[in-house]
Amino acid sequence: MTQKIIIDTDPGQDDAVAILLALASPEIEVLGITAVAGNVPLPLTQLNARKICELAGRADMRVFAGCDAPMRRALVTAEHVHGRTGLDGPDLPEPTMPLQQAHAVDFIIDTLRSQPAGSVTLCPLGPLTNIATAFARAPDIVGRVQRVVLMGGAYFEVGNITPAAEFNIHVDPEAADIVLKSGVEIVMMPLDVTHQALTTRARIRAFREMGTRVGTVVAELTDFFERFDVEKYGSEGAPLHDPCVIAWLLQPELFEGRHVNVEIETTSPLTLGMTVADWWGVTDRPPNATFIGKVDADGFYRLLTERLARL
Ligand code: BDR
Ligand code: CA
Repeated sequence: MTQKIIIDTDPGQDDAVAILLALASPEIEVLGITAVAGNVPLPLTQLNARKICELAGRADMRVFAGCDAPMRRALVTAEHVHGRTGLDGPDLPEPTMPLQQAHAVDFIIDTLRSQPAGSVTLCPLGPLTNIATAFARAPDIVGRVQRVVLMGGAYFEVGNITPAAEFNIHVDPEAADIVLKSGVEIVMMPLDVTHQALTTRARIRAFREMGTRVGTVVAELTDFFERFDVEKYGSEGAPLHDPCVIAWLLQPELFEGRHVNVEIETTSPLTLGMTVADWWGVTDRPPNATFIGKVDADGFYRLLTERLARL
């Protein structure tokens, strides 16, 4: 049976690879892609999502534009990481497939109401604005979500956009707080795990050597993306954060984590968006998320390369 998902995203090179991985995988049925403001403003994220669908040969995919700013704050973007377009690196043509008329939040609500309860997984790869807005506007859908598998947060790795916070959660901490408190089953891919999924020279070469358009584009995307992290962390490559979400759906045995309590800092200016994970079980706060801490990186890149080669 296929796993039905909605990808909520702010592409982003690593978002793009996650979308390609999902579209390449027959176990997954992508019901729609909802764009949110994040790495770059909404007009670019929705455009980038359509460029990637066309690259995958999926001009039939429905792409919706959602919230253009966080629930209660001004948008923070990350052009310093992703480039001016959000998808710097390859030269991708302007998409010809249309943007859907409906708002992404309405699409999320309508889909969860019309599909059988417990059959749709939400995969947020950016700030949680669209998802939290849908939960706040239509509380009846919350109990119908199968689970949320998201990229966001950090505990031992602490932060990337501030010393204390990971980008997706920091941009819209109120939205993250709503999702974490919703009672929905949550699997979180924090920096602790994504920082293990590094693009190395050999891994990028494997993309390039596929000899396909998708392989070349993914090599160009990761080439661009890694320059920032290599300089910042002195690591061999860059973490492919968002594809971890899709890889978990396909092969959860590649990952290890703990079911713990995770709370979001929404007030302190110093630590805004920090994900306080009770990894050691030192409180009696109830667990609300499976917080992933480890990935078999070779297995992850084997899966990614094998799947992308199918496109
Ligand atoms: C997250 O922030 C974005 O820059 C990436 O696409 C990823 O979703 C990593 O902190
Ligand atoms: Ca992202």
